[in-house]
Amino acid sequence: MTTGRDDEAAPPGTGADAGTADPASAGGPPGTGASRAGGARPGEPLWGGRFGTPPAPEARALGRSLAFDVRLAAQDVEASVAHARALEAAGLLTAEEAARLEGALREVGAEIAEGRFAFDPADEDVHSAIERGVTERLGELGARLHAGRSRNDLVATDVRLWMREASRRVGGLVRMLVRTLAARAREHAATVMPGTTHGRPAQVVTLGHHLLAHAWALLRDLGRLEDQARRAAASPLGAGALATSTLGLDPAATARRLGFDRPFGNSIDAVSDRDAVQELLACCAILGTHCSRLAADAIRWSELGWAEVDEAYATGSSMMPQKRNPDVLELARGKAGRLAAAFQSLATVLAGLPLGYHRDLQEDKEPLFDAVDTLELVLPALIGCLGTLRFDPAAMRAAALAPELYATDVAEALVRTGVPFREAHRRVGELLRRLETEGRTLRDLTAAEWAAFGLEGGGALLDPDRSVRARAIPGGPAPQSVLAQVDAIEAALAMREGMGEHHETKVRVVEADAAHDWQRIPVPEGDQAPPGEEVVLFRAMDGRFSVGLWRRAPEEGPMEPPYHEMAILLEGEVELTLDDGTVLRAGPGDVIVAPKGARATWRSLSPVRKFWAIYREPEGAP
Ligand code: ARG
Repeated sequence: MTTGRDDEAAPPGTGADAGTADPASAGGPPGTGASRAGGARPGEPLWGGRFGTPPAPEARALGRSLAFDVRLAAQDVEASVAHARALEAAGLLTAEEAARLEGALREVGAEIAEGRFAFDPADEDVHSAIERGVTERLGELGARLHAGRSRNDLVATDVRLWMREASRRVGGLVRMLVRTLAARAREHAATVMPGTTHGRPAQVVTLGHHLLAHAWALLRDLGRLEDQARRAAASPLGAGALATSTLGLDPAATARRLGFDRPFGNSIDAVSDRDAVQELLACCAILGTHCSRLAADAIRWSELGWAEVDEAYATGSSMMPQKRNPDVLELARGKAGRLAAAFQSLATVLAGLPLGYHRDLQEDKEPLFDAVDTLELVLPALIGCLGTLRFDPAAMRAAALAPELYATDVAEALVRTGVPFREAHRRVGELLRRLETEGRTLRDLTAAEWAAFGLEGGGALLDPDRSVRARAIPGGPAPQSVLAQVDAIEAALAMREGMGEHHETKVRVVEADAAHDWQRIPVPEGDQAPPGEEVVLFRAMDGRFSVGLWRRAPEEGPMEPPYHEMAILLEGEVELTLDDGTVLRAGPGDVIVAPKGARATWRSLSPVRKFWAIYREPEGAP
């Protein structure tokens, strides 16, 4: 079941319990509204004209989607306003008529949002309800609204508008979860713990490294959501029922008005395809598995006594007084099933469906709403639970002392003395087997035995800190590698902070508390700017502070050189040195602009506590 949310148009309760709170039963008897001049007859569907008999109640009950698609009311109003303006531009409505339509649409939208709208049992869906509301207000003028459009292109448009917001909200939550993991990883960059394969002790790692493994996966989820949003940014409106119209509408203008990147490329595709919904559901399903596996690890750590769930995120037992259960994590783990099912549900509806609109397509909305609702429940709970999880570094360290965790370190130490790895592996294996029969472990080997084994001072290898520090390569578990990962992840997040917002703020500062030297760093791999956009990232040399600059919104089109590459508004004094030797100084309120291709070094001249940066095309820029 979907639940109505405050940030959407659904009146409270209408989404959750269709049986008891169906909007269709909320508005008094049918036909009590104002004049229906030009509209459907009272109690009749919008398409009633061709029919001599009203629909059977059970047919109506099956077909009615109002209980859930009322969540699209705000989007339906926006799309309808854009369509009214398209009719105006085509000369089919006067400016005054279009304005009156817009006013009535917004009134109906506000009534629905506030739960004051009188729904009619004949309202099949939110589109019919809104059109009826407008027609009751405006009579014959209201009846002009539907020219050149169909509910087929309308519903596809509404859903894409809804998804745009939903994808941004989910992305925002994922960013918060990644930030939480990055913060916990920074805290535990040097906390040693046993790493496992097959759930069994394998090699020593750091807790920070393990936490970031989840963060990297979630960053890919963010990338997927962004890709999906770009592909979904095509407006279906103007496609009509399937074949556009003879009315001279301009779908490109409608697309621009609705904030889409472009209009549909093919009207049949526009009304038939639901891959945009599938793709968001695929993103949600994959994200759901990532949340589930993160939860599973946290549950395991709590079972092992390595972590304790804060009381605020734990639950008791109705019978066993001692219990403190990780239900929040268990639900986060279990919801993956529901999210995968949402994808599967729509995939099954679509497979084998010929092109053109079919009512089967109405089945896209409940899985979509449910998946987004589910993530909007799971992600905040995970963020809170992970943010407050109390790790026990001493317990992890104790477990990390288990001698079997060092067998690979010992074999690799032999390799470093020139022994081929297979040979080293066999020798260590034989040593372990012998020790086992003697009831001993690697820790019990004497200095003489280590020497005889070919590793003078080999006992020192059995040290968890030394073991992780020896794996300090990029992407490895050593504390310094973990901190470098945190930097890269935070830089990728900082770059994204501007991406959901159109046109304006492109730079955002994560944190700053000291004077910094600045250096230009490359965009992290896998986080390339979308085509036509340019990203510049800066990182303070001490690694604590990163800024992402996102230069252009996609709808601004490709960049024509020469252009200005970066602009940063600063609080505090900063000196910028360009490659050609030019030195620029900036103080509070200044915008710094460097020409394309310039390489710049930054140096702060005074302690800078806060930075912010806004991109603005400079006066007179080419
Ligand atoms: N409620 C319908 C849906 O969700 C709206 C489109 C109805 N179109 C039609 N031709 N019956 O898909």
